[in-house]
Amino acid sequence: MIDLGCGIGNNSLYLSERGFKPIACDISEEALRKLKESIPDCNTLCFDMSEGLPFEKGSIDILIADLSLHYFDEDTTHKIHS
Ligand SMILES: C[S@@+](CC[C@H](N)C(=O)[O-])C[C@H]1O[C@@H](n2cnc3c(N)ncnc32)[C@H](O)[C@@H]1O
Repeated sequence: MIDLGCGIGNNSLYLSERGFKPIACDISEEALRKLKESIPDCNTLCFDMSEGLPFEKGSIDILIADLSLHYFDEDTTHKIHS
Protein backbone atom coordinates (compact mmCIF):
# COMPACT_ATOMS: atom_id res chain seq x y z
CA MET A 1 0.00 0.00 0.00
CA ILE A 2 1.38 3.37 -1.08
CA ASP A 3 0.57 6.77 0.38
CA LEU A 4 1.69 8.98 -2.50
CA GLY A 5 2.39 12.61 -1.60
CA CYS A 6 1.98 11.68 2.04
CA GLY A 7 3.04 15.02 3.52
CA ILE A 8 3.45 14.73 7.27
CA GLY A 9 1.47 11.49 7.19
CA ASN A 10 -2.17 12.08 8.08
CA ASN A 11 -3.30 9.14 5.96
CA SER A 12 -0.31 6.95 6.81
CA LEU A 13 -1.03 7.45 10.51
CA TYR A 14 -4.70 6.54 10.03
CA LEU A 15 -3.70 3.41 8.10
CA SER A 16 -0.90 2.41 10.50
CA GLU A 17 -3.23 2.70 13.47
CA ARG A 18 -5.52 0.21 11.71
CA GLY A 19 -2.85 -2.39 11.06
CA PHE A 20 -1.82 -1.46 7.51
CA LYS A 21 1.82 -0.97 6.54
CA PRO A 22 1.81 1.90 4.06
CA ILE A 23 4.93 3.10 2.31
CA ALA A 24 4.81 6.86 2.76
CA CYS A 25 6.18 8.71 -0.29
CA ASP A 26 6.88 12.38 -0.80
CA ILE A 27 9.27 14.74 -2.54
CA SER A 28 9.85 16.59 0.73
CA GLU A 29 12.50 15.16 3.03
CA GLU A 30 11.28 17.58 5.69
CA ALA A 31 7.72 16.17 5.49
CA LEU A 32 9.05 12.62 5.75
CA ARG A 33 11.21 13.56 8.74
CA LYS A 34 8.12 14.95 10.51
CA LEU A 35 6.10 11.86 9.56
CA LYS A 36 8.76 9.67 11.21
CA GLU A 37 8.28 11.62 14.46
CA SER A 38 4.66 10.44 14.67
CA ILE A 39 5.05 7.03 12.93
CA PRO A 40 8.65 5.92 13.62
CA ASP A 41 8.35 2.49 12.04
CA CYS A 42 6.63 3.65 8.84
CA ASN A 43 8.60 2.94 5.66
CA THR A 44 9.25 6.09 3.64
CA LEU A 45 10.51 6.89 0.16
CA CYS A 46 11.57 10.30 -1.12
CA PHE A 47 11.09 10.87 -4.86
CA ASP A 48 9.56 13.21 -7.42
CA MET A 49 6.40 11.51 -8.69
CA SER A 50 6.36 13.73 -11.80
CA GLU A 51 9.24 11.58 -13.04
CA GLY A 52 7.16 8.43 -12.60
CA LEU A 53 6.79 5.93 -9.79
CA PRO A 54 9.72 3.71 -8.74
CA PHE A 55 7.65 0.55 -8.39
CA GLU A 56 7.41 -2.53 -10.57
CA LYS A 57 4.24 -2.66 -12.64
CA GLY A 58 1.64 -4.78 -10.85
CA SER A 59 3.50 -4.70 -7.54
CA ILE A 60 1.17 -2.22 -5.82
CA ASP A 61 -2.13 -3.44 -4.42
CA ILE A 62 -3.50 -0.11 -3.23
CA LEU A 63 -2.25 3.43 -3.85
CA ILE A 64 -3.80 6.52 -2.31
CA ALA A 65 -2.92 10.05 -3.41
CA ASP A 66 -4.87 12.38 -1.17
CA LEU A 67 -4.59 16.00 -2.33
CA SER A 68 -1.34 15.33 -4.14
CA LEU A 69 -2.14 14.72 -7.84
CA HIS A 70 -3.78 18.04 -8.58
CA TYR A 71 -0.43 19.82 -9.03
CA PHE A 72 0.32 18.41 -12.46
CA ASP A 73 -0.80 19.03 -16.02
CA GLU A 74 -2.63 16.26 -17.86
CA ASP A 75 0.43 14.79 -19.58
CA THR A 76 2.40 14.60 -16.35
CA THR A 77 -0.56 13.06 -14.52
CA HIS A 78 -0.82 10.34 -17.17
CA LYS A 79 2.94 9.73 -16.89
CA ILE A 80 2.57 9.24 -13.12
CA HIS A 81 -0.26 6.75 -13.67
CA SER A 82 1.44 4.76 -16.40
C1 LIG B 1 -1.50 19.06 0.16
S1 LIG B 1 -0.20 17.94 0.63
C2 LIG B 1 -1.16 16.49 0.97
C3 LIG B 1 -0.52 15.65 2.05
C4 LIG B 1 -1.30 14.40 2.47
N1 LIG B 1 -1.56 13.52 1.34
C5 LIG B 1 -2.59 14.77 3.15
O1 LIG B 1 -3.67 14.57 2.56
O2 LIG B 1 -2.53 15.24 4.29
C6 LIG B 1 0.58 17.54 -0.95
C7 LIG B 1 1.89 16.74 -0.80
O3 LIG B 1 2.34 16.37 -2.11
C8 LIG B 1 3.76 16.45 -2.11
N2 LIG B 1 4.25 16.63 -3.48
C9 LIG B 1 4.10 17.71 -4.29
N3 LIG B 1 4.71 17.53 -5.46
C10 LIG B 1 5.27 16.29 -5.39
C11 LIG B 1 6.07 15.53 -6.30
N4 LIG B 1 6.41 16.02 -7.51
N5 LIG B 1 6.49 14.29 -5.93
C12 LIG B 1 6.17 13.80 -4.70
N6 LIG B 1 5.42 14.48 -3.79
C13 LIG B 1 4.98 15.70 -4.13
C14 LIG B 1 4.05 17.68 -1.25
O4 LIG B 1 5.38 17.67 -0.78
C15 LIG B 1 3.00 17.54 -0.15
O5 LIG B 1 3.51 16.85 0.98
